[in-house]
Amino acid sequence: MGKLKALDENLNLTDKRVILRVDLNVPIQEGNVIDKTRINKVIPIIKEFVNKKAKVILISHLGRPKGKINEKLSLKPIAPILQNLLNSKVYFSNKSYGPTIIEKSNKIKSGEILLLENIRFNKEEEENEKNFAKELSKIGDIYVNEAFSCSHRAHASVCEITQYIDSYAGKLLFQEVSLINMLINKAEKPVSCIIGGSKISTKIGILTNLVKKMQNIVIVGAMANNFIKYNGHKIGKSLFEKNQEDLLKDIIKKCEDNNCKLIIPKDVIVAKSYKSEAKLKSLDKIDDTDLILDIGENTIKKIYNIIDESKTILWNGPAGYFELEKFSTGSNKIAKKITEKTKNKSLTSIAGGGDTVAVINKSGCYDGFTYVSTAGGAFLELLEGKILPGIKVLEINE
Ligand code: 3PG
Repeated sequence: MGKLKALDENLNLTDKRVILRVDLNVPIQEGNVIDKTRINKVIPIIKEFVNKKAKVILISHLGRPKGKINEKLSLKPIAPILQNLLNSKVYFSNKSYGPTIIEKSNKIKSGEILLLENIRFNKEEEENEKNFAKELSKIGDIYVNEAFSCSHRAHASVCEITQYIDSYAGKLLFQEVSLINMLINKAEKPVSCIIGGSKISTKIGILTNLVKKMQNIVIVGAMANNFIKYNGHKIGKSLFEKNQEDLLKDIIKKCEDNNCKLIIPKDVIVAKSYKSEAKLKSLDKIDDTDLILDIGENTIKKIYNIIDESKTILWNGPAGYFELEKFSTGSNKIAKKITEKTKNKSLTSIAGGGDTVAVINKSGCYDGFTYVSTAGGAFLELLEGKILPGIKVLEINE
């Protein structure tokens, strides 16, 4: 990856219209924001521009309205939240481009903010359409991408817009990309990753890329069931992905070839249904009616050892069905252990992905990690070694 174009800290932004592409794609239920992590993260960045007396124009998407207006996916409820957190005037516009918006962007005072309606209400956004992007660019004097989490999308407000306006990688985006690249290429060894989630096939790209760089890979969550079954144990009624034997064989071989230890659960928490009692079982005791829903004590101990011996750790994907308290022990304990070691400065810890962030928030460990990425798809794609279109366009051509 090339060097990213960063904004000069000393640039005079007084009265300059700064288009800030942010990711305010937050969960909203009946007009209420359920999780504000993404909003909270971008607040200090907006404040910086406000303090520099810029006119801040915020562009974001919310959900997947497929190019049509959908009241339920309006960004309007976010405006008062921003105003409250920023202590600055936030205007909301139910249009996101065109002459009236250009006029508004000029009219607002320096230090004020204009939040535009969900950019995905326009079908041209996802088409990365040239004329639309050109129109969008007219709303600002400079463009800053602070939306790492949607930089894997070749959309107009992420990619094409940069062709028509002076464009920069924002601080958060820069930090996020640098940390992930550090983790992949220059991390202090031993480097370990804990990978969970439900489908092994969706993580194969990451595993293949990381296996060459990691000393330990710990597999947890429902995708570990595939390995447990592959090793000849029963998994009862547990979630698993069919016909993945070749893929598992390939992962095991790659780990052997690259001297990377592959760790899978030794014991598990099972239940007959989500509602019934949780029981600890060793793998040989699992019966046909069991559902594996978390990792067991011995597995947690093994993961503790791995965390203790690691200098760098990456975590993506919960260890169990954390949505229910009784199956969240594994995930909580991993989060707490990583936090402990990060706090005493003996570990660099990076976590990312929607569910992982939810687990970390739930266990109150958000501030204990070196870095928590609020990105889902973009985080995973960068780990896979893919080139993200929204990042590519911000590289300096040398
Ligand atoms: C995310 O939530 O991962 C980003 O906002 C991207 O959203 P998308 O998957 O709908 O493009």
